Amino acid sequence: MSKQWWKESVVYQIYPRSFNDSNGDGIGDLNGITEKLDYLKGLGVDVIWLSPVYDSPNDDNGYDIRDYQAIMDEFGTMEDWERMLSEVHSRGMRLIMDLVVNHSSDEHRWFAESRKSKDNPYRDYYIWRPGKADGSEPNNWESAFSGSAWQYDEQTEEYFLHIFSKKQPDLNWENPVVREEVYSMIRWWLDKGVDGFRMDVINFISKVDGLPDAEPQEGKKYASGSKYFANGPRIHEFLHEMNQKAMKEYGAMTVAEMPSVTPELAQKYTDEDREEVDMVFQFEHVDLDSGPGGKWDLRPLKLRDLKENLTKWQKALEHKGWNSLYMNNHDQPRMVSRFGNDGEYRVKSAKMLATMLHMMKGTPYIYQGEEIGMTNVRFDSIEEYEDIETLNMYREKREAGVPHEDIMKAIYVKGRDNARTPVQWNTTENAGFSTGIPWLKVNPNYKEINAEAAVADPNSVYHYYRRLIELRHNNEIVVYGGYDLIQPEDETFFAYERRYEGESLLVICNFTGENAIFHVPDGYKNKAGQLFISNMEQDQSLSFGNELHFTPYEARVYRVKH
Ligand code: NOJ
Repeated sequence: MSKQWWKESVVYQIYPRSFNDSNGDGIGDLNGITEKLDYLKGLGVDVIWLSPVYDSPNDDNGYDIRDYQAIMDEFGTMEDWERMLSEVHSRGMRLIMDLVVNHSSDEHRWFAESRKSKDNPYRDYYIWRPGKADGSEPNNWESAFSGSAWQYDEQTEEYFLHIFSKKQPDLNWENPVVREEVYSMIRWWLDKGVDGFRMDVINFISKVDGLPDAEPQEGKKYASGSKYFANGPRIHEFLHEMNQKAMKEYGAMTVAEMPSVTPELAQKYTDEDREEVDMVFQFEHVDLDSGPGGKWDLRPLKLRDLKENLTKWQKALEHKGWNSLYMNNHDQPRMVSRFGNDGEYRVKSAKMLATMLHMMKGTPYIYQGEEIGMTNVRFDSIEEYEDIETLNMYREKREAGVPHEDIMKAIYVKGRDNARTPVQWNTTENAGFSTGIPWLKVNPNYKEINAEAAVADPNSVYHYYRRLIELRHNNEIVVYGGYDLIQPEDETFFAYERRYEGESLLVICNFTGENAIFHVPDGYKNKAGQLFISNMEQDQSLSFGNELHFTPYEARVYRVKH
């Protein structure tokens, strides 16, 4: 397996709207990010991934791009961006940008042209189809944000495809001119000095010919068409072409967001010999607590399922390809609320979860606020929510007669705004995020949970992340060691080992709020273990006996010579 800088890195994701507002308009901005670069450098992260900062009407908070080569007014200017980049680089960090090219905004000039007439030169930049004989949508695909994935346009009496909102029309990747436009835009940013890209739903860009109807879902008018657009027939060809024509010459880092990706496919996408992408964001582990009705259909997570799933991914990409490691981002609820305990054991369980993830093989991603143990939020009224996915779902379910309280229950657990409340910097008004009125309300727990307090407290979640990152930087075993799960059936502990050059790391995480006994595996009995990291005070070394006693959410990692 080759050694690469991005395999040895830790990435920090910034969702700019909610990160830090420097000019008091209630919206995070680029100068706000620049102000906080020392904080990120102090944490030790190597790469910053910036969610979209391009000009956008903000139907989906910047994931609907009006101009790929301009900065959103609310976020600042191109000069602000350039200054930010140079400040990132002068601190020895790197910057990757979001690349959102499955779709653009309907306000992009390409789409404005495209919708004008059927023979407009831009018509085939997008996916237009006539309705069925009865005038209904060309197929039954459901939009990821509720309703049909097709929007009728009166001007030319045809429908256009939008897998996301109707203000996010899908680009037509079958058109070679579209592909060249995208590659030249990528090169333009790389020439400006960016170090790579996170590619938004990039495995949706190749659609199955004929756009067939999806298998109908009981009781629903529309159904998921993902079988016909996720990992489609030309996807490997398109990704390879993008690599060759845009990324390769710059050595750009690429991480591809891929709903519905399997480990087998991921191995292909990230196989270095195939030159497609460096790593993918998979979704299987964040779908384990959803029922057959999708993300809002809540069901309890079984630890065994999580272990089985993450292990499957560790093993599938062990010799070929590379994993990304994440437990939350701007689309997922807060990690500590979802997988840990955000009450009594908030700090301890946040550290335990970080241990589980950061000791694995792959490139870890930290989502803003995760490093201080930020939690989910509960707003009383739907009016206080901003996310289009949440609001569309709420409207659709209310129309279908689902009671308000039931919908809110699901929003509290899964809604994307959980992750989008402003970063909590200190105890001043609006958590120090803004002197204006924040675009989304601050989580009221900021007096207790904030970065200033975390930096000042040596036992905070922040300093624990700092140590985890340092351990990765200083120990090749964390980056390149093999992985094996221990005691797969156990419902209390997530335990695994990493092996490298005659040594191992034994990682043991108690996922429960109870005291518990860990049975030491045979290969470790009577061996000496050096403490690598733990979220509790421990002896620095021990000789393994038959068992180890753990307190709730305790995590320990030992280094052992074999
Ligand atoms: C995935 C992004 O992470 C999400 O925030 C966005 O809504 C969709 N792709 C559409 O761009």
